[in-house]
Amino acid sequence: MFSRIPLLLAFLYSVSAEQPSAPSPISAPLRELPWASGGLNFLHTTDTHGWHGGHLQEAQYSADWGDYISFAHHLRQRADDDGSDLLLVDTGDRVEGNGLYDASDPKGRYTFDIFKQQRMDVITPGNHELYLANTSRREYDEVVSDFRDAYIASNLVIYNSKSGKYEAFAPRYRKFTTKNRGVRVLAFGFMFNFHGNANNTFVQPVQDTIKEQWFQDALRTKDVDLFLVAGHVPVRDSQEYDLIYRAIRDVVWDTPIVFFGGHTHIRDFRKFEKKAYGIESGRYMETLGFLSISGVAGSKNGVIAASSPEFRRSYIDNNLYSMRHHSGTNSSSFSTEVGRNVSESIHAARKAMKLDHTFGCAPQDYWLNRAAYPSNSSLLSLLDTQVLPDTFRDMKNASIVITNSGAIRFDIFKGPFTTDTTFLVSPFTSGFRMLRSVPYKAASQVLQLLNNEGQIALKDLVDGSVRAKDLMPPLPPVSLRQNVNVFGDQQVLGEQPTVPGYTTIDDAGNDGDDTIHQRIQFYDVPNVIGVDVGFSSDEKLETVDLVYNEFIQDWVLVALQYLGKKYGKEDTEEALDGRTMTDVISGWVGEHWECG
Ligand SMILES: *[C@@H]1O[C@H](CO)[C@@H](O)[C@H](O)[C@H]1NC(C)=O
Ligand SMILES: *[C@@H]1O[C@H](CO)[C@@H](O)[C@H](O)[C@H]1NC(C)=O
Ligand SMILES: *[C@@H]1O[C@H](CO)[C@@H](O)[C@H](O)[C@H]1NC(C)=O
Ligand SMILES: *[C@@H]1O[C@H](CO)[C@@H](O)[C@H](O)[C@H]1NC(C)=O
Ligand SMILES: *[C@@H]1O[C@H](CO)[C@@H](O)[C@H](O)[C@H]1NC(C)=O
Ligand SMILES: *[C@@H]1O[C@H](CO)[C@@H](O)[C@H](O)[C@H]1NC(C)=O
Repeated sequence: MFSRIPLLLAFLYSVSAEQPSAPSPISAPLRELPWASGGLNFLHTTDTHGWHGGHLQEAQYSADWGDYISFAHHLRQRADDDGSDLLLVDTGDRVEGNGLYDASDPKGRYTFDIFKQQRMDVITPGNHELYLANTSRREYDEVVSDFRDAYIASNLVIYNSKSGKYEAFAPRYRKFTTKNRGVRVLAFGFMFNFHGNANNTFVQPVQDTIKEQWFQDALRTKDVDLFLVAGHVPVRDSQEYDLIYRAIRDVVWDTPIVFFGGHTHIRDFRKFEKKAYGIESGRYMETLGFLSISGVAGSKNGVIAASSPEFRRSYIDNNLYSMRHHSGTNSSSFSTEVGRNVSESIHAARKAMKLDHTFGCAPQDYWLNRAAYPSNSSLLSLLDTQVLPDTFRDMKNASIVITNSGAIRFDIFKGPFTTDTTFLVSPFTSGFRMLRSVPYKAASQVLQLLNNEGQIALKDLVDGSVRAKDLMPPLPPVSLRQNVNVFGDQQVLGEQPTVPGYTTIDDAGNDGDDTIHQRIQFYDVPNVIGVDVGFSSDEKLETVDLVYNEFIQDWVLVALQYLGKKYGKEDTEEALDGRTMTDVISGWVGEHWECG
C-alpha cells in the first residue's frame, strides 16, 4: 500500500506547485495591487537568505521560488496586455540562513541554478555575499555571469589574483529602455559602507564613490526618464541613500528617482520628496515587494513627459492565495512549466540534503519574540528551564552556563523538528567554551552585566571584529514594533482579520500589506540567559566553572575584567566536546520530543 504514496504526492504536487510539505495558504482578506496600467511596475525581493523553498511551517509564506517565477510570468503578461512594464529587482543577501543554501558541501551547491531561473532586471550583492572569500569569488564567477545584463555593483571591487589588482565586481551602472513604454532608466547598484568582508573584496565608501568621475558623468547622461537606485542599503535613516539622493538632485533636479533597499529585514516605504520614493521588502522570502509608478515619461506609445508621477506600493505575502489573486489565475492556471520545474528542483535538492530528516516533534509553538520571557511558550524559557539544564547535567563541577539569545534566530513551530529546522533556529557553527574555578561572586554577576548596562558600555571595549549587533537578540521588524506603539489594539478595518502577520506603517500610511493581518504582539527579551548547574542558589560557593557559547567570549572576558577578574583567551578551554548550540538543541529534541 505504501507504494501508492509517492504517486499520490507526485499528483498533488504537479497541481499545486510550492513544496509538497508546505501548508496550503489560508484565505484572508486582501487589498488589490496598485498596478499602474500604462506605467511602470516592479517586483522586489531582498534578504532572501536561502529561503527559496519558502516557509514550510508557516502557511502565510509557503510559496517557493518556482511560484515566484510563475507569478512574475503572469504579471509580465499583464504588462504586455495593457502597455505597461514589469521589472524585477533583487537587492542581495541571497545566501546564508536556510538549509537549502547552508546544508550542502560546498554551501549553495543547489541554490544558484534555482535562483537564476528567474529573469531579473536589476540585481545587486549584499554583505552576506562578501563575508567569506570563497562566497564572493563564486558570486563573481557564477552569479554575475548568470545575470550578465542585470548585475550592477557601483561601489564594489574584487581582487584578481592573476592581474594582482582589484577590479570592478560588475558593471557600475546600466542604462536600459523598458520594453513596452520605452522608459529610459539609469540604474545603480550600491552596497552600504560595509567593512566586515573578506579581504578579497573592497566596498568603496559611498561618499567617495559619488565623487568619482564615472558617477558624475553617469548623472549627466542624456535622455533619462527615471533614476533607479537598487542596493543593499536601508531606505530609511541611511546616510548612504541620503548622499546618493543629494548627489543626483545636485545634477538633475526634476527626474523621478526610485530606490530599492534592504538589509534591515523590514517592510518600509519612504518618501524622499514627491518625485523620489524608496521601498524595502522584508526578509526570508516572506515578502514580495510591489511598487508602481504611473505618469512617468516614456518614449513609446506617444507618451509625453509627465509632470507628476505617482508612486504606490504593496507588500505581498509570499503564498499561492495572494499570488493567484493578484495574477487573476486559479489553481489550474497559475503555475508555468519553468515555475513547476524550479519547484521540482528545490524539492530534489531538499531531498538530496535530507532536510526533512526528523529529530522529534514539538508539542507546541515556542516563540523567540512573540511570547513574553519567561513564559511557557518562550523559546528562551524552554532553553533555560529544560534544554540547557538537561544538557549540562553531567558537568562535574558547579557551573554557570550562559548563552546569548542572538544565538537563536527563529521560532520553533509545533510539529516536526527537522534538519531544516536546525539551520533556521541556530545556524551558527561556534561551540561552547569555559573558564574553570572563577570566583563565584564575579561569575554570578556576568549575566546581569551583559543584560543591563552591558551592551553599550562593553561594546566599546571589545575588539571591533565582533559585531555588537550579533550579541543582541534579533529584534522584530521595526514596522511591527511601530505598530504596537502607534495603533495599540485598534483595528484598521471593520473586518476582523484572523491571520497574524505584518501590520506595516510607512510613509504612505497603513494600507501597504496586501493581506489584512491580525496584529502580532512582540516582546523584548534579554541579551543573554543563564542557568546554574550542579548547585542551588542558597549554597555558599567559592568558585564555579563559567561556561558560555564561544560567540560571546570577548564580552564575557570584558565583563569579568570589569568585575575585577582578569582572564585571557589562553585561560579558556573547550566545553561539551565541541558540540554547538545546534547540536545541543537537536540532540535534546531527539531525546525528549516524540512524534505522533
Ligand atoms: C567556503 O568555505 C567554507 C569553510 O571555510 C565552506 O563551508 C563552504 O562550503 C565554502 N563555500 C564554497 C562556495 O566553496
Ligand atoms: C588577505 O589576507 C590573507 C591572510 O591574511 C593574505 O594571505 C592575502 O594576501 C590577503 N589578500 C589580499 C588580496 O590582500
Ligand atoms: C481556472 O481558470 C481557467 C481560465 O480562466 C478556467 O478555464 C478554469 O475553469 C478555471 N479552473 C478552476 C478550477 O476554477
Ligand atoms: C522542464 O523540465 C522537463 C523535464 O526535465 C524538461 O523536459 C522541460 O524542457 C523543462 N521545461 C522548461 C521550460 O525548462
Ligand atoms: C506553565 O505550565 C505549567 C504546567 O503546565 C503551569 O502549571 C503554569 O501555570 C504555566 N505557566 C504559565 C505562566 O502559563
Ligand atoms: C572541579 O574541577 C577541578 C579542576 O579545575 C578539580 O580539581 C575538582 O576535583 C573538581 N571538583 C569536583 C567536585 O569534581
